[in-house]
Amino acid sequence: MSATQPDTITIFDTTLRDGEQSPGCSMNSAEKLEIAKALVELGVDVIEAGFPIASPDDFEAVRAIAREFGNRTVICGLARCRKPDIDRAWEALKEAEKCRVHVFLATSPIHRQFKLKMAEEEILRTTVEMVKYTRDLMCSRPDITTPNLEFSPEDAARTELDFLCQVVEKAIDAGATTVNIPDTVGYATPAHFKACIEYLKANVTNIGKAVISTHCHNDLGLAVANSLAGVEAGARQIECTINGLGERAGNAALEEIVMAIKTRGDFYGVKTNVNTPKLFPISRLVSRITGMTVQRNKAIVGQNAFAHEAGIHQHGMLQNRATYEIMKPDDVGYVGTNLVLGKHSGRHAFRDRVNSLGFVLEPDVFERVFDEFIALCDKKKDVYDADIAALIESHLGEKSDVPDRWKLISVQTFAGAATIPTATVELQCESEPPCRDAATGDGPLDAIFLAMKRITGVAGTLRNFQVRSVSGGEDAQGEAFVEIFVNDKSYHGKGISTDIIQASAEAYLKALNRAMSDKQPTKRVLAQHD
Ligand code: KIV
Ligand code: ZN
Repeated sequence: MSATQPDTITIFDTTLRDGEQSPGCSMNSAEKLEIAKALVELGVDVIEAGFPIASPDDFEAVRAIAREFGNRTVICGLARCRKPDIDRAWEALKEAEKCRVHVFLATSPIHRQFKLKMAEEEILRTTVEMVKYTRDLMCSRPDITTPNLEFSPEDAARTELDFLCQVVEKAIDAGATTVNIPDTVGYATPAHFKACIEYLKANVTNIGKAVISTHCHNDLGLAVANSLAGVEAGARQIECTINGLGERAGNAALEEIVMAIKTRGDFYGVKTNVNTPKLFPISRLVSRITGMTVQRNKAIVGQNAFAHEAGIHQHGMLQNRATYEIMKPDDVGYVGTNLVLGKHSGRHAFRDRVNSLGFVLEPDVFERVFDEFIALCDKKKDVYDADIAALIESHLGEKSDVPDRWKLISVQTFAGAATIPTATVELQCESEPPCRDAATGDGPLDAIFLAMKRITGVAGTLRNFQVRSVSGGEDAQGEAFVEIFVNDKSYHGKGISTDIIQASAEAYLKALNRAMSDKQPTKRVLAQHD
């Protein structure tokens, strides 16, 4: 007799759709493609690539991802229950071998009354009409007989259970193969959410014909717990984002969901297809592209997630790691503070280290990173894995990015108590002679930013500025992150150096260069929840 196989949970990643709705996290098409590639390699089952009707850029990004990766992973696009939305989503997706259209309509009393101004009967009728419309549209492709079609009753967690059952039953009858239960405003608690899924299972007569999915927001910090409670009740798809990115407090964090299911397989009795050593690299990639830093003590992918300071812990760990460690750092691809080689180790050993950190670099990029590593060894006593990863990441994506017009030649500041902070900056634009300017400001960085604005002629407003140390030690490298607004659009840049003034200057100039080349998304023509 063969043992029963655990069910596989479908991991539906919505970093590129719900995650991208985080303020300041919009991405251009090249960046979305880079993340989509990493998601495919991570092994997620469905990628929600965007909301095609929202803007021409959203449409193009979904279409590009569908064309490039639609033969490997299911690519999904979002649509409201309106024909123009559904047509646009299908137009973007139809070339993908594996595709899914996701339609949604709010069902809670507050949304019905104040947003949609629709009575219950109208919600039911629109759901049926629009799900059938989507099904028929998808069936126009000769190879599709049972369309991969998801329906979401938005704000389900605040919807009357009996009405929710009616909507879900009608959506399944009309052709939905996945019914997603969103906790749109993060209002649910684990016991409440579990009871809600159990109620649907017990009271929707055709529920067996569809996969039940969870989509939990994190306003009360319960998104992951609620999603897992949904799994306990029988949900078999979880919608989530890398680093828990998403509007307000975000969505359920993919890395936490996946590692909870892996580590507590004994309890949940289910598994996922995710290649977990890719979790840490993709977390860093998303952080680098969106500029959304990951808090140090964040579960699974935080810099401290596997650091043990207390002596009693260290003693226990030396005897047996399992005393204080429930997951192995390698299982999530953790890049920590292992001491790496010195500058005498040579190219070969350095390449091995780079590869073991999960990076494969093209020869020209490898040479540049190696030169920077040697220079770093001269400046810094101890060089760690995290330093190497940061050097590499500062080069990733540069091929898909527009080349920088302005380069930083030099920066000098003068500041201190009872003086006027001053900066002298020298920049070079392509092959023109270098330009130099000096400015005073509230502080040395303000003075640098002002001098750069004057030289480049781009007037950006600083929206966000952060500096963090990449690894440990007093001589640690600093990573600076800058977000500026130019003509109502957000542009971000990162810089890395053992000198935080230089890192900040580089980050600011990167953001200015991006504003000048404007590869940013066009503004959304509508809000998602209209
Ligand atoms: O939070 C939400 O309700 C959504 C839906 C569109 C699924 O994002
Ligand atoms: Zn959402």
